[in-house]
Amino acid sequence: MNGAASLWFTVHVSHFTLFYVLPQYVTLTADSRRKRYMADISSKKVVLGVTGGVAAYKAAELVRRLADHGIDVHVVMTQAACSFITPATMQALSGNPVYTDMWDARINNSMAHIELSRDKAAIVIAPATADFMAKLVHGHADDLLSTLCLARDCALLVAPAMNRQMWDHPATQRNAVQLEKDGVTLLGPVSGDQACGETGAGRMLEAQDIADAVAAFLAPKTLAGVRVLMTAGPTFEPIDAVRGITNRSSGKMGYAIARAAIGAGAKVTLVSGPSSQPVPAGASVTHVQSAAEMFDAVKRNAKQADIFIGVAAVADYRVDKPREHKIKKTDKSQLTLKLVSNPDILGWVAAQATPPFTVGFAAESQNLETYADEKRRRKKVNLIVANLAQSAIGADDNEVMLLDDTGTHKLVRAPKEVVAKDIVARIATLYKAGKKRR
Ligand code: CTP
Repeated sequence: MNGAASLWFTVHVSHFTLFYVLPQYVTLTADSRRKRYMADISSKKVVLGVTGGVAAYKAAELVRRLADHGIDVHVVMTQAACSFITPATMQALSGNPVYTDMWDARINNSMAHIELSRDKAAIVIAPATADFMAKLVHGHADDLLSTLCLARDCALLVAPAMNRQMWDHPATQRNAVQLEKDGVTLLGPVSGDQACGETGAGRMLEAQDIADAVAAFLAPKTLAGVRVLMTAGPTFEPIDAVRGITNRSSGKMGYAIARAAIGAGAKVTLVSGPSSQPVPAGASVTHVQSAAEMFDAVKRNAKQADIFIGVAAVADYRVDKPREHKIKKTDKSQLTLKLVSNPDILGWVAAQATPPFTVGFAAESQNLETYADEKRRRKKVNLIVANLAQSAIGADDNEVMLLDDTGTHKLVRAPKEVVAKDIVARIATLYKAGKKRR
């Protein structure tokens, strides 16, 4: 819809929000998705250690969220944990055998405490009780999980979960400090409502936050110290005091790229249109509504950026002179709104005298590769990520192709978290190659 500087556009205003009409898309089942991407990515393996706290129920959700990141989860539970959630649940969700006993006959040499961590990138304890933290500090090894932690040669990440007074107790505080001195990474806890009915610090992080933190911890630091500026989500162009023009972008892809870039060590500034996605931990986020506000925020930050990634579905047009008050219904059958073109944010960034490494997105409904490559050349961007709009917008997974000077690279359909990591890896490779040439 680019080109004309202004356009008369006739719309029937029957809803508070207008949507661009998109064809229905076909969704794959969760299982077929999982099989397709697990076959294609080199998934990292972790041990998830579950100890006996009421937050153990969140460990089930955590298994799913880790799997979204392409992480292969192997669960080890303490006896107390089995009082809160069953090994059968964890086995069904992780797709791997669950271990609870040092002497499990399924390990050939009866060395479960050594074997189970040997091919793993990390052990993640979630929830970690006050008692288990104390055991870690003192090197106790009286059950499978504590022995596994003592005998590990991989990273250990611990998500404490306990009553606020247990967390605030000087003994637990000493243990938390000591664990960090011992090289253990603490994830949380946070403040909030507790299962015991009290409110305070000691609540376990949500499963999504733990999974994101683990994925970020495991990611190769290919963008260490690199400053990434990016846009994400839709824009909202007001018509009057209560109505506007927007689109069906959820922000999922952009936020996943922000998380992946943070995981790769980048300093991320995210300019986001309206989205219900949780703010990525570690990102500096500016929330905007319209394309004009998004443009202003990008202009303020562009000079300091090494890389710019335009993921936002920016409205090409906005309403000329939105009404201050709600437009009242009349007996006329039509209402005419005048639309004027919005600035092309990506185009502006790429046209700077010394532009950052610039990445754009192309959502097409047909002729994907041809249109996307034409967009890449016209906007003079280093890399275009192209996808079919009808199968990407609002979905949890995505299938994209990456187009740059060297040609087209197709990525297999996968959850957006996994696709985001592959995109960031490609950006890092091209960005570093470009720096070498300069
Ligand atoms: N973009 C932008 N500012 C705009 C419009 C788009 O920064 N005003 C960015 C998007 O974030 C995305 C890319 O440009 O990275 C999409 O290009 P665009 O030409 O807008 O795509 P379409 O809207 O799909 O274009 P067309 O309607 O011509 O297909």
